[in-house]
Amino acid sequence: MTNDELQMTGTLIPNSSFLIPNLNHLAMIMDGNGRWARQRGLPRLAGHEAGTETVRRVMNYCRDAGIRYLTLYAFSTENWSRPQGEVDGLMALLGAFIRKYEEELMEKQVRLRTIGNRADLSAGLQAEIARVEAATAHFERQVIIALSYSGRNEIARAVRRIAEEVRDGTLAPEAVSEAAIAAHLDAPDVPDPDLIVRTSGEMRVSNFLLWQCAYSEFHITPVLWPDFGEAEFKEALEAFAKRSRRFGGV
Ligand code: FPP
Repeated sequence: MTNDELQMTGTLIPNSSFLIPNLNHLAMIMDGNGRWARQRGLPRLAGHEAGTETVRRVMNYCRDAGIRYLTLYAFSTENWSRPQGEVDGLMALLGAFIRKYEEELMEKQVRLRTIGNRADLSAGLQAEIARVEAATAHFERQVIIALSYSGRNEIARAVRRIAEEVRDGTLAPEAVSEAAIAAHLDAPDVPDPDLIVRTSGEMRVSNFLLWQCAYSEFHITPVLWPDFGEAEFKEALEAFAKRSRRFGGV
């Protein structure tokens, strides 16, 4: 079965014939890098570096599974309050990741985009992202990196833009609806996540995709992000397959 056919029917768990219906968008809260490093007596950045390798693995699992959208929570607006060395290290890792995998994204036909407050990032990183976004813009499968992102901040920025349009007379106050708010979010064309996976056992949403997660299913695994592998990926998909999604109906 080709990936295009899978898109219409569902998601195939890698190396199995287990078809997961309607898993079009997987979002992940990548947690536990610091604990992974501490357990090994390593600096926190070593955990983030190991976590980067997991990102690459998960991108490949999603590709094999025919999942069209993968959103990764890489850096929250709250993460700016971490020690400067860790912030600088994370930004450097993100830049290196984008440079290193540009070719692979092109080859595997994956569109890279980001959500979050782009203006908070350094001019260099912004330029790097813009370049790869433009080069991959025509691909259908997408990896969306949440960078300097928080759900409340995204909603506040959307509401500000709506207020500006109302002020300028291009949007009538009566036209401010759920659909109008959704249309002003950072990636309005991307469907809401079907499944949100969080690693390291924390039972929190941590300001991630607050608007979009209204009817998402959640799966929490105790495994730390750098250790998240194919077995955990399959387990998450299997857990999702067992859920009955009613979207508020009966
Ligand atoms: C949370 O773990 C993780 C982060 C704040 C950063 C996530 C970043 C990466 C996985 C690397 C780069 C990402 C991409 C997309 C290339 P934590 O530091 O809060 O862990 P702890 O709770 O164990 O301290």
